[in-house]
Amino acid sequence: MRFELTEEQSLVQSTAREFAKRAVEPKAAELDRSGRWPAEIVTEMAELGFLGMAIPAEHGGAGLDHVSYAIVVEEMSRACASTGVIMSVNNSLFCDPLEKFGTPEQKERVLAPTASGQMLGAFGLTEPASGSDARMMKTVADAQGDGGFILNGAKNWITCGPHAEHIIVFAISTQDAVKPKHTAMLVRRGTPGFSVAAPDHKLGIHAAHSATIFFENVRVAKEDILGEVGAGFKVAMSTLDGGRIGIAAQAIGIAQAAFEKSVAYSKERHSFGAPICDHQAIQFMLADMATEIEAARLLVLRAARMKDLGQKHTAESSMAKLFASEMATRVTHKAIQIHGGYGYSVEYPIERHYRDARITEIYEGTSEIQRIVVANALFR
Ligand code: CAA
Repeated sequence: MRFELTEEQSLVQSTAREFAKRAVEPKAAELDRSGRWPAEIVTEMAELGFLGMAIPAEHGGAGLDHVSYAIVVEEMSRACASTGVIMSVNNSLFCDPLEKFGTPEQKERVLAPTASGQMLGAFGLTEPASGSDARMMKTVADAQGDGGFILNGAKNWITCGPHAEHIIVFAISTQDAVKPKHTAMLVRRGTPGFSVAAPDHKLGIHAAHSATIFFENVRVAKEDILGEVGAGFKVAMSTLDGGRIGIAAQAIGIAQAAFEKSVAYSKERHSFGAPICDHQAIQFMLADMATEIEAARLLVLRAARMKDLGQKHTAESSMAKLFASEMATRVTHKAIQIHGGYGYSVEYPIERHYRDARITEIYEGTSEIQRIVVANALFR
């Protein structure tokens, strides 16, 4: 396995780092406090090609690889975790499955404008009563005999839902108490029967709006079916194989930000006649933080590289997300400890990193689900 970045990946990283430092980081505290949607940042990300990074240029993307994508999500999240997940959802949860399962017509009509950032996409799998047990959703799609469906149900926690032009919705198209069959479909906002609730109130990632979306007798035309009828669960699962790389990269970015601030603070703050970085108690915390961040990064780069090589990477993505997300919680917890009372204060960014880190253990599959996926790979 190659450990160093290619020249192109290094260039992408420095471009993302410069952009994040200039245009994203200075706004992160305000975005967290106000919960404002960062429209101007989304526009700039589109201009930089960050909203469809691994999508070929002929389908509106930047034509880069998934390693570059993971690097950029990390850089964005290091500046602002909300920005990181907005980017990740558009790339991994919308553009990626359209590139993989979409028809040529869908690629031209929907993928190209979304990968280039003229419009956004979202992913509707989770429901009020089914998160981890995604298969047992309640949303139904009734076949109309012309290849189209009528959709009824609700999806919740839909990141970017209030701003997305299209949502990939998963619905049961063949009822079965044990093994229902699902179909994935594209639904455009504004379609009669489609409505979006007010954005959710959350612990962190305040600027990455999520919401519940309702479908009441929504007509879905044959042209909007994504992949094969009845094979939607596979579309969802293989999409999450890629999405989990993005969330793991987001967790690393959050942890890296908290770590860097902890190193800087430990040099400035004095106790017992010395900067606190001279105390072994602090050094050991920082050493553990640095080691864990690096371990998580290698797991993410491995999973991304495997995706680029077209290799099956289900377990590797889950390992990366499991380790990186729990690592981010540990690292941001230690960062608060190093900052003491200032870490607990909303005047400092550390408590934001701590709150933002927590979601990475939950969305795109909880840590418990990642362990199930890894265990399945061991025993199946
Ligand atoms: N790729 C392709 N197909 C896959 C697959 C994969 N990675 N994993 C499973 N499948 C297929 C299986 O082969 C199986 O196919 P058959 O029916 O033909 O045999 C089918 O899918 C069902 O597989 P399982 O029996 O393993 O399914 P399960 O019901 O036991 O569930 C699970 C597996 C891993 C627990 C899954 O339900 C899961 O991942 N749950 C978590 C859901 C999740 O991550 N939600 C996140 C929502 S998105 C989000 O959070 C976005 C955001 O806000 C940012």
